[in-house]
Amino acid sequence: MPGLDLVGFLAQLAPVAPDSSNAEGIRQSYLFISIFTVAIFVLVEGLLIAFIWKYRRQKRARFADGAQVHGATKLELAWTAGPVLVLFVIAVFVFVELPGIKNIPEATAGEEQLEITVTGRQFYWQYEYPNGVVAVDQMRAPVGVPVKLVVSSPDSDVIHSWWIPALGGKIDAIPGRTNQTWFEADTEGTYTGQCAELCGLEHARMLASVEVMSTSAFDAWLADRTSDNSAAELGKEEWEGVCAKCHGLAGQGGIGPRIAGSPTLTDPAALATLVHNGRRAMPAVGSGWTDEQVDALATYLKENPPSGVES
Ligand code: CUA
Repeated sequence: MPGLDLVGFLAQLAPVAPDSSNAEGIRQSYLFISIFTVAIFVLVEGLLIAFIWKYRRQKRARFADGAQVHGATKLELAWTAGPVLVLFVIAVFVFVELPGIKNIPEATAGEEQLEITVTGRQFYWQYEYPNGVVAVDQMRAPVGVPVKLVVSSPDSDVIHSWWIPALGGKIDAIPGRTNQTWFEADTEGTYTGQCAELCGLEHARMLASVEVMSTSAFDAWLADRTSDNSAAELGKEEWEGVCAKCHGLAGQGGIGPRIAGSPTLTDPAALATLVHNGRRAMPAVGSGWTDEQVDALATYLKENPPSGVES
């Protein structure tokens, strides 16, 4: 059929190709339930059209009633038992799949497991690795290793939702509450997603990605991020992820005012006061930030002062 790629069209209705066993479980449940819903839709709509045609008025007088039918015990039993059976089969399938989706694999002796703290904030994702390394928006993770995510949001913030579709389902980042989810990526690559809970003006720009790399490359990256000369790297992530979403990549202004050239940008003490407390309409985007996090931003901005001109 030229011009009509039905399979390709239908594939777009399915969840994205999974790359983690929990995402695989979600996709299988989706496809399994779709079989029944599509079959029921075709059956009901098909019968509806068939009956409309078969029992149309034809030569009957305009106000004469059609045949009055009372009682059809077998039919009534069938349309009661049928849906019960369908729901039962769906429930069994989902309950079989659910542990593989929800349960975080137990850390066993000799087997690696990584835990990353994920904090959703207006309007960025902050990650903390076990050795204290902090990153913004772009997560790195080793391939083939179960990664447990501990997800929350600061008390002063709002609800966000962590979602990288290829790596599993959504999990809400809720102030004052800790949720957990996990993934174990099968192949290296970059997986993208975004905040899935309307959280304010810049919600749509609250993107997230997970770069899955070999274990050795990941270890090297993690070690490198602890060294002193990596501050600018964190600073760049903070500028792009935390500041630029409101003030523009060149500091030219956006929903926040123009900040290019502001002396605050390169003064660690002034910058700390600003990000810790906010100012007027600006929220405290960096409440809880350590000195290292503030210094990283100041260091980056000293080396790469925003030009103020949108490129
Ligand atoms: Cu955070 Cu939407």
